Amino acid sequence: MAYNYLLSDTRDNGICILTISAPKTLNALNSAVLKELDTFIGSLDSAVKVLIITGDGPKSFVAGADISQMSTLSAKEALEFSKLGAGVFRKIETLNIPVIAAINGYALGGGCELALSCDIRIASDNAVFGQPEVKLGIIPGFSGTYRLSKIVGQGFAKEIIYSGKNIRSDEALRIGLVNHVVSIDELMPTVLALAETIVANAPIALKNAKKSINEGFDLDSEGAIALESKLFSDCFNTADQKNGMAAFLEKRKAVFENK
Ligand code: CAA
Repeated sequence: MAYNYLLSDTRDNGICILTISAPKTLNALNSAVLKELDTFIGSLDSAVKVLIITGDGPKSFVAGADISQMSTLSAKEALEFSKLGAGVFRKIETLNIPVIAAINGYALGGGCELALSCDIRIASDNAVFGQPEVKLGIIPGFSGTYRLSKIVGQGFAKEIIYSGKNIRSDEALRIGLVNHVVSIDELMPTVLALAETIVANAPIALKNAKKSINEGFDLDSEGAIALESKLFSDCFNTADQKNGMAAFLEKRKAVFENK
């Protein structure tokens, strides 16, 4: 399918770079962009083993939901808009491959929420984060209240959301909102190097690790531990487990087949 707001580059090694491109609004998310994102995520080729999400240009990852579109919404339409964005971000969060956000500038409102739905966040040193919704008379609507609290804890989440203040990448690093901060020139090489490390590992093991971390978080300790044991044991039904362990014992590098 041809997209108006998305550029994608799938490499032979199974790494796909998805770029959100709405330059006139610093890559803001209107419903057309969100629908394209939904279609793209829903129809991702099974050859893709790691997805990288970034924004077009050196200035902005995503500057939020589109304020000009939101300004005229009724409460009923706002509910639909929120469900659209939250639904897409949930699909990203539960995608069965690792997703890395390469945050190349403003990650505000819905942009910060998009980054939060990814597994790993790496930012350039010019990146700026925030949930400025209360300054607009609204609250985060693409699951930011839920995920920001999960990732940085309720104290920092409440400070960021109640104040509406932007924070710089060094502060984002300090509170655990991002994993690493690098220069803008180093951003994509750093993200690609991590993606290459991940993509060399067993895909079913990665899928099960993601499921165990994501689903275990919302269970009680007994449930989370039992889920991990089940997903651990499921790996023993795969050729990749046999191959991976044999390769270790034979002192060679494993090449995984995703089965
Ligand atoms: N929606 C719509 N348009 C946006 C936008 C957004 N979120 N962010 C930027 N734009 C537009 C600007 O209106 C401007 O358009 P014009 O050239 O037609 O005037 C263009 O992008 C460039 O932006 P600026 O001139 O403002 O650029 P700047 O460098 O001076 O400032 C900025 C950059 C600090 C990111 C500023 O644009 C800004 O504050 N944007 C809004 C950020 C925001 O509040 N995001 C949260 C939205 S609410 C939300 O996301 C709700 C939710 O959770 C679902």
